[in-house]
Amino acid sequence: MSRALAKANANVALAKYWGKRDERLNLPYTGSISVTLDGLETHASVRPLDSGGDRIILSGVEAEPREAARISRFLDLTRAAGRQHTGAEVEISSNFPVAAGIASSASTFAALAVAAAAAYELRLSEHELSILARRGSGSACRSLFAGFAEWFVGQAPDGSDSYAAQLATPEHWQLGVVVAVTDPRPKAVGSREGMAQAVSRSPLFSAWVDTHKADLDDIRDGVRERDLARIGHAAEHNCLKMHAVSLAAQPPLIYWRPATLAVIERVRQLREEGVDAYFTIDAGPQVKVICPIAQRAAVAETLGAVSGVQRVLLSAPGPAPQLLEAS
Ligand code: DP6
Repeated sequence: MSRALAKANANVALAKYWGKRDERLNLPYTGSISVTLDGLETHASVRPLDSGGDRIILSGVEAEPREAARISRFLDLTRAAGRQHTGAEVEISSNFPVAAGIASSASTFAALAVAAAAAYELRLSEHELSILARRGSGSACRSLFAGFAEWFVGQAPDGSDSYAAQLATPEHWQLGVVVAVTDPRPKAVGSREGMAQAVSRSPLFSAWVDTHKADLDDIRDGVRERDLARIGHAAEHNCLKMHAVSLAAQPPLIYWRPATLAVIERVRQLREEGVDAYFTIDAGPQVKVICPIAQRAAVAETLGAVSGVQRVLLSAPGPAPQLLEAS
């Protein structure tokens, strides 16, 4: 029985996961491709206890029952597979503003998968770790990889073929990423609920699934060829379709704020001015912008000046998770 500490980075999807074909296993309707975000990290430690249940600390504070239950259910997966079955003390903290609505579940469950596997003495391959992380949060399976990652949709009902793999290393392409934070409040409707609404209550869901492959192909090839315009146009199209699906749901789901649209407008204007910048937006009001790394500082300054933007974060393709301690 040992304590393990791991860290993992957040990621942003260029071709998105939006809709689960299996809610329990987090199996998607579509494949997805993401960039692992340098500098946006979550640390997770797991210390199995001699007796008793789990004790979960998030950002230094005892977790709310709902959050704690989600993490305990995740630990149960490692306990079921490993030799140890006792509860654990878990501490999780991120170096980016979780309350600002920047997705932290990906880095949280990627770090937790690595730490829990070490603490409960499970020897897992990278792809098995990706499957384990997916069970905690779908997008977490992509945070297991440095640089660019692709999550394969898979077909098997047990999810054994739905995992992520590295598409390209950070060295292959140091793309600039800027995150424009437009609303610091936690989002009202989380991804899980938002996806469920999209799947069963949006007339556009089937069109989303049917047209997704073309975006994935463009983005995969664009990453391989370091073709920013190609991935940028495909990522914007994919993002707008995802939001269109949710806008058309009953009841509708609107993740954007006025400042979200103002940033979109500014990015389009930047392109007219000759800057190769493209936006994408997840299940929240923040806008993530990709651009050449040499123009990242200028893009950040421009977006930081848009009315309603509260702060900007600078990133680039980042590293794989690391096991920092295992005793
Ligand atoms: C819009 O991975 O957070 O960011 O599997 O329910 O935990 P759960 O959802 P999550 O959803 C991410 C949705 C997205 C798109 C993406 O990252 O691909």
